[in-house]
Amino acid sequence: MFETLPAPKLDAIIALMQAYAADPRAGKIDLGVGVYRDEDGRTPVMAAVKAAEAQILEAQESKSYLALAGDTAFLKQMEALLLGGAVPSARVAAVGAPGGTSAVRQICELIRSARPDAVIWVSAQTWPNHLPLIRAAGLRAQSYRYLDAKGGGLDREGLFADLEQVSAGDVVLLHGCCHNPTGVDLSAQDWAEMAALLERRGAVPFIDMAYQGFGEGLDADAGGLRHLAARLPELLVAASCSKNFGLYRERVGIAMAIVDPAQRDTLAAALAGLNRQAFAFPPDHGGRVVSTVLGDAALRHQWQTELDAMRQRVQENRRALARALRDATGSDRFAGVGHAQGMFSILPLTADEISALRAGHGVYVLGDGRANMAGLSTRNIAACAAAISAVTR
Ligand SMILES: Cc1ncc(COP(=O)(O)O)c(C=O)c1O
Repeated sequence: MFETLPAPKLDAIIALMQAYAADPRAGKIDLGVGVYRDEDGRTPVMAAVKAAEAQILEAQESKSYLALAGDTAFLKQMEALLLGGAVPSARVAAVGAPGGTSAVRQICELIRSARPDAVIWVSAQTWPNHLPLIRAAGLRAQSYRYLDAKGGGLDREGLFADLEQVSAGDVVLLHGCCHNPTGVDLSAQDWAEMAALLERRGAVPFIDMAYQGFGEGLDADAGGLRHLAARLPELLVAASCSKNFGLYRERVGIAMAIVDPAQRDTLAAALAGLNRQAFAFPPDHGGRVVSTVLGDAALRHQWQTELDAMRQRVQENRRALARALRDATGSDRFAGVGHAQGMFSILPLTADEISALRAGHGVYVLGDGRANMAGLSTRNIAACAAAISAVTR
């Protein structure tokens, strides 16, 4: 049966994780995989999460199946966290999914069941798993310009010019905040322009929200999403709790369709049906942790404090690296790193420079130059800047 099965190409992020793990050098620096790290390189369990888990362990009396959509409290809390009341609940259909990855996949499946010929427009630089997920669902993808390679900011002109080409019924995938991999986000004015364009073209936005709280703050990071939800008739959302709750391996995500109230129940049933086909019931534990934290004032306060500290640490790392790179290289080539949002930035390096960084200095960034700012610490920023300076000299 499997004689002709081709060996799959290893995902770039997974391949880099493996190469880093196999590197015996003591001073190696991992800026590859997208997880938060503290000053000691650990990805801790948040204290608010630990406390919620203790409560759940104590109180839970059954692990019997829930609904196909998952736990109602989780769905309601996530609706409030993401949408902040921007639209009435009568417009919101949502289901739990195992992580943001599955949420993206389930939304793609929903699109395919409604409109199999829809084109999904994806920013030229994007999370490496977006295109495989879109294609696995049988959909076509088209790219739009995003990063202005010269200045390291948004290629606003290219972005809006490309999106003028979308057809009615096409879907435009946008990162809610902390664009992965560029760290370059839309301003409030860009989001307003985006809403006007999508309305004019009759296209449906699909927001991937994987880093809420890592940009400017929980509400500010959802500003674009909320603006589009309030302004447009239809909106799709895939959100992850992996990063902002540190629940990576628990697999917590939500897939959401915001539609006319008359269609809401159909969408809810369609999403539940897609869950049934893919994994039936979404995992419960992580979602229950999220709803326990968000539903308890003290735990919620504790969680926000911890999340604020994570955001600030990453921002400080980013600014410190930009300063160190300016000092080490004597140029503004890396200035964009200091202005971006969230965990990632694209270091403007050639493929040869990226290889030399890995081989000669044990500094691991992805092949497109994506670097995770959370992988830096006060102990390695100077060494990292010196290595980058050495390979670019
Ligand atoms: C943009 C984006 N979307 C979705 C995800 C998926 O996250 P999860 O680990 O919850 O599946 C990630 C994770 O890195 C991401 O960066």
